[in-house]
Parts: sequence; C-alpha cells; structure tokens
Amino acid sequence: MGNVSIDEKLNLELESFLKDIEATESLDELEKVKTKYLGRKSFLSTVLKNIGTLDPAERPIVGKKANDVRKTIESKINDKEKYLKDLEFEKKLREEKVDLTLPGKKLPSGKKNIISKVIEEIEEIFIGMGFEIAEGPEVETDYYNFEALNTPKDHPARSLHDTFFISEDILLRTHTSPVQIRYMESHKPPIYIIAPGKVYRRDYDVSHTPMFTQIEGLAVDKDINFGNLKWVLQTFAHEVFGKDRKVRFRPHYFPFTEPSVEVDVSCNICDGKGCRVCSNTGWLEIMGAGMVDPNLYSFVGYNEEEVSGFAFGMGVERICMLKYGIDDLRLFFENDLRFISQF
Ligand code: PHE
Repeated sequence: MGNVSIDEKLNLELESFLKDIEATESLDELEKVKTKYLGRKSFLSTVLKNIGTLDPAERPIVGKKANDVRKTIESKINDKEKYLKDLEFEKKLREEKVDLTLPGKKLPSGKKNIISKVIEEIEEIFIGMGFEIAEGPEVETDYYNFEALNTPKDHPARSLHDTFFISEDILLRTHTSPVQIRYMESHKPPIYIIAPGKVYRRDYDVSHTPMFTQIEGLAVDKDINFGNLKWVLQTFAHEVFGKDRKVRFRPHYFPFTEPSVEVDVSCNICDGKGCRVCSNTGWLEIMGAGMVDPNLYSFVGYNEEEVSGFAFGMGVERICMLKYGIDDLRLFFENDLRFISQF
C-alpha cells in the first residue's frame, strides 16, 4: 500500500461518510452509518489496525491522518445524534400536546332536592321568628302518635290516619305531632320549635303518597293566645307565598288542639275568583293548626293553669306544589332528572 493511495482512500472514505450522514434521517439509520464507518470491519479500523505493517516513516503520517478522519466522523455523528434526538422530542411534544387553556368537560352535578330546599326555606322563616329546630323518631309508639295526643284507642279520628302498624303498639308515625309530646316531656316552657320530618300513611294517588314530609310547629309559654297563632301563621304565609296573598282561618277539628283551624291562602291562579285548582272556592288549604288542648299538658306534667300554647302542622310537598304549580305529588318521588333539574 503506497501512502498516497491510503491518504486518498481516507479522503474518499470521509467524502462518502459526509454524503451518508447528510442523508441520514433517523437514529436507526445513524446507528448503521456509525457501524459502517467506525465499526470493527470499517475501512478506518482496518487502516489503524495495520499501521504496524507500514514503512516506519509513513506510520506517523498515516496514523495522524486516520485519527483526524476518525475524530471528524465521530464529532459529526455526535452532532447528528443530538440533532435527531431533538427532532424526535419535538415531534413527540407536538403529537402528545395537551392544550391546558381549553375549557374542561362539564360533569353533571347533583343538586339538592326541591323538598329539602323548601324545608330549609321554611326553617329560615321560623328561625327568624325565634323558633328552634327539633326532631323525633319515624318509628313511633301508639302512645306518642295517638294516646298522648288526646286520641285514645276508640277515638273515631284514628280511622282517618291509615296507619302502618309494625306491632300492636309500634307504628310508623302518621304525622309529626308526636314530637310535640316528646319535646314537652323533656323541656320546660317557654317552647318555640318546629319539627320537620317524614311521615307515613297507607295511601297512594295523585295527592297522596305512603311517605310524605310534614313540618310541625309548637309554641308554649305564658299567656299565648289565638292572636299570636294568627300573626305567626299569617307572617309565614306571606313570606312563602307573597305579601299579596290573603290568609283565612277556618274552624276545623283535631283531637290535640282546641279550638282547631285549617289555614287557607287565596288562590293565585284565579286571584280568589274560583278555578279548577282551588275547586272554585278561591282558597287553597296549607295547614292545620290550633291552640294546644290543655289535656296534653297533663300527659307531660305541665300545669295547665300556668301555660298555654298553639301548634300547627303542614305538608311540605303540598306547600311545594302550591308554590311551584306542580299538579302531581308523585313527581317528587320518581327521581326523574327532567323534573328534578328544573328547580
Ligand atoms: N297533625 C295534623 C295532621 O297531620 C296537623 C296539625 C298539627 C294540626 C298541629 C293541628 C296542630 O293533619
């Protein structure tokens, strides 16, 4: 091998490499180029391996040249590798990019049931008048649901209640009035409470469901009179239905109040003239009420000469229906999202 021809061959090899590396477009291809020009079987390796067989004078010249070529090739490969890696990274970024400024997908969210909202609204009104919230059990005894409310076993009013009995003495409460007795048993007057809760009756049609919601009210103090009852319930009705509605008190009967009334508000559909909704009376019934029957005080150990009070009880679903113009009670319990999400 003459040194001129080796020198030329190294130049040719470098030229060929420069063309190849220029055309290289991927890291895989680059790996092949690397093997071709720097691998064990490459021309450059062969030259370097056989340096010892050359003329001693030629050795340093060829050796330097070959090493220069090797360095050039190595550095070009390194540059290209970095370039290709950057390119790949950018491509990946472009393909996998997430635009954080895009608005997120909205998930459907739960809402408070309309009955719960109306209970809270009614609670707020009475809290504003100085009442507190009380509660009682839904599974009751005959004693609290009837007996202590002046409704003994043979009382005709019992048949109106369509009671779910669990045993002879245990039942699902048919109204929230037992909370009156339980609260008076454990507290001394003055008492100003309302007691919301579920009640149960064996009934099912457009205006009756086996479970519904009532809010009981009880005020017991010195010198409570019927005027106090009228003011509290009129204020309540104006807050819930609007100041323009008229309120009237109609004589009625409950075993645990004396005298007893039913409370009506003027019909807002016909403005009191009479229509289908108010059965042509111009009035809509919203609750039962009355002065606490003094007999109840003997059941809870109060002296009936010292205290007096009033009580009232309303159906929350009914208040809701009148407030929002809903004509079928069963809608409240069917969990149809089209109904629920309207409020
Ligand atoms: N408990 C009665 C009912 O369910 C309502 C009522 C409560 C009446 C308090 C008077 C006093 O019909």
